[in-house]
Amino acid sequence: MNRTHKIIAGCLVALATSVLLAHAHPFGDAGLAAPRQQGTILQHADVPAAVRTTLETKCADCHSMQPRPPLYARIAPVSWLVERDIVEGRKAMNLSQWDSYSADKQEELKAKILSETKLHKMPLPQYRFIHWSSTVTAPEIDAIASWARGSTASPDISTAGQPLMAADAVRGKLAFEKRCTGCHSLDENREGPHLRGVYGRASGSVPNFGYSAALRQARITWDDKTLEHWLAGPDEFVPGVDMDFHVAKPQERVDIVRFLKESAGK
Ligand code: HEC
Ligand code: HEC
Repeated sequence: MNRTHKIIAGCLVALATSVLLAHAHPFGDAGLAAPRQQGTILQHADVPAAVRTTLETKCADCHSMQPRPPLYARIAPVSWLVERDIVEGRKAMNLSQWDSYSADKQEELKAKILSETKLHKMPLPQYRFIHWSSTVTAPEIDAIASWARGSTASPDISTAGQPLMAADAVRGKLAFEKRCTGCHSLDENREGPHLRGVYGRASGSVPNFGYSAALRQARITWDDKTLEHWLAGPDEFVPGVDMDFHVAKPQERVDIVRFLKESAGK
């Protein structure tokens, strides 16, 4: 064999090995070799067509049972990385199983879809690098925002006509766990800042948390009244903030505020 033949033979062996190795799934099997499943994402959900298209074209590859893997995704080690993203992506949010999520979970995911796209954390950078048209555009983000905020719109700050029970920290803790822990924890910064001691604290003051400029400059002291307004609609209270989530039920808001107050030792 001359040199060129050796190189070609070497390449063929490497390719064959890679294709074989792609049958191994060190980071989980995303089922890419199986025929593409039929079905739609967000099954029966009431989603505006524009939002559905964005999610289908820019997110479904990792967040549904209908990925469209490119050819090179069949070759190890790329296949392993692609599979890892898909397996992890589906775990975080599977748009093919939307109907099976509780209403609360759907609300939380919608808020996260909005914040992940607004902050350009999603699609993942490695995906945008290859699918360069997959960056979510400003009009798309607007459409997602009105979808995500619309469903439980018109924050009811007035509490008009709704007889409230006395605020209760135990109920508040349950509501906190259900609604807030997707993004917050009491003691660690996650997508949102840590919340132990937030009651009585100045807004935007956790030193190592990356706040929006709007909240950093807001100069609010968190108390019953300001937290109530915040939870009813952060963006109405302080325009331009990064928390895309609100609590529609007045009772839940007062309970959560009481819980935050107690966990601050106040
Ligand atoms: C290349 C694969 C990939 C693409 C494409 C992708 N994601 Fe993700 N996504 C992931 C992975 C992996 C995770 C879990 C790890 C993480 O949060 O970074 C995730 C997590 C998420 C989460 C949950 C975050 C959390 O904190 O629970 C949301 C919401 C999300 N993605 C939305 C989107 C949206 C919206 C799009 C399309 C605009 C999108 N993703 C496109 C891979 C992807
Ligand atoms: C989808 C993610 C998300 C959810 C769900 C969420 N938050 Fe937030 N929260 C954030 C982000 C992000 C910020 C920072 C906002 C900014 O910098 O503009 C924040 C900020 C806050 C602040 C201001 C803290 C400070 O240091 O000034 C409070 C108070 C707060 N959240 C309470 C809550 C409560 C209570 C819940 C549950 C009812 C909740 N959040 C649910 C993402 C979320």
